Amino acid sequence: MGASVMENYDYTNKTMLAPMVRVGTLPLRLMALEYGADLVYTPEVVDKGIVGAERVVNEDNGTIDYNVKGVSVFRTHPSEKDRLVFQIGSANADLALEAALTVAQDVSTIDLNCGCPKRFSVHGGMGAALMEEPEKLCGILRKLVQHSGLPVTCKIRIFEDREKTLNLVRMIEATGIKALAVHCRYRDERPREPGHWDRFQEIVEAVKIPVIANGDVMEYGDIARVQKLSGVTGVMIARGAQSNVSVFRKEGPLVHLHIVKEYIRKCMITRNLHSNTKYVLMQMFGDNTKSSHYRPLCDAKSFRAICKVFDMEPELDAWTAKQAENGFPTDLDYIPRRIQNSAQGSEKKKAAVGDASVETPAKRKIDQVVENENTNNAKGDEESAPKPAKQVKISSDGSSSQPTPADTPKPDAENDKSEVAVEPTVAESS
Ligand SMILES: Cc1cc2nc3c(=O)[nH]c(=O)nc-3n(C[C@H](O)[C@H](O)[C@H](O)COP(=O)(O)O)c2cc1C
Repeated sequence: MGASVMENYDYTNKTMLAPMVRVGTLPLRLMALEYGADLVYTPEVVDKGIVGAERVVNEDNGTIDYNVKGVSVFRTHPSEKDRLVFQIGSANADLALEAALTVAQDVSTIDLNCGCPKRFSVHGGMGAALMEEPEKLCGILRKLVQHSGLPVTCKIRIFEDREKTLNLVRMIEATGIKALAVHCRYRDERPREPGHWDRFQEIVEAVKIPVIANGDVMEYGDIARVQKLSGVTGVMIARGAQSNVSVFRKEGPLVHLHIVKEYIRKCMITRNLHSNTKYVLMQMFGDNTKSSHYRPLCDAKSFRAICKVFDMEPELDAWTAKQAENGFPTDLDYIPRRIQNSAQGSEKKKAAVGDASVETPAKRKIDQVVENENTNNAKGDEESAPKPAKQVKISSDGSSSQPTPADTPKPDAENDKSEVAVEPTVAESS
């Protein structure tokens, strides 16, 4: 394997799009880079979820899919390669390495997620569970450092116990990783609880590698604030970018509607799966439920319907015509087989117990499953509990309807049922 372009990469003074399950898919990553992020992280992909994936290049737009059983679990584009950090969830050094080698030719850094406190992660010994098993954590990192051929980084949370945290970061540094991202919350702390910016400085002083600060950096001005306070150089943004990805612009954020439309355009040209597109758009709106676009967006069942909400059907028509003219795929409403199977499975199950709802047309059932996936995944990102960035200015586009709580998919960190661990979000290449 050739030397990575990031081998000598300087991780200092960089701003980064944080890893975000379902949210940080290709369209948002491309936008973050355009608006000034230096690096972008993929959502966490669990090692087993990518090992053995087939790499397919899509002729029409040059995107690259990693497909498992015909379903894309990771989509990238060569334009992001030299700034793309691929985050792995793992509790096994061999599997982590296999996962890293699977995608190595299309990414620039491998990151190990050691901060995720979700049940699925910690039960599997992954994420924050690794922080309690530093030998295992460091074993995985060493293997990746020695054999992946790529620079390796790691993302942790902090312990309440300062010494324990400092011992851990020193051990992690000794594995040879290039940078350490620190989410300044304890394992059980929720996003709504303020992060501990006061803890960065001692970590910066304990190690020589660059420390990347993460947690409550919600607007561009926060980058300098956290740097000044703690001496961290790299800064990583999650929810601030989820609400308005132009948070990376030093000139200030762009208006919300502009970002939304630009996001839909990116989804079109990268052929992002419409359920993921809708999910991310819902997160962008956050609590801005009074927007006249919000209710129609909740009801949108297809990419075309999403475009209609934002008066973008003519753009979709033009794109579709061009794709068709060149013999390229036009379907943005593709439903992954996994979801179809799950819908069909639940129908069969209901038939077996004589459920009257079996008469519901299959298509509606599938729509429901897609919707449930979105809703459950919204619930699921514990680290996230997506809320609008409280300090990022989002200009509203007017107001009218207010969805009832019952039909409004709302994230609920406390009821974390989702265990999404791969990026089942983009359409199968065809
Ligand atoms: C929607 C969402 C999904 C997330 N998924 C991941 C993930 O895949 N891997 C990870 O290490 N952290 C994940 N996180 C946590 C963020 O990367 C970050 O550590 C946390 O949100 C704190 O940063 P913030 O205050 O800028 O939001 C996620 C957060 C959000 C909002």
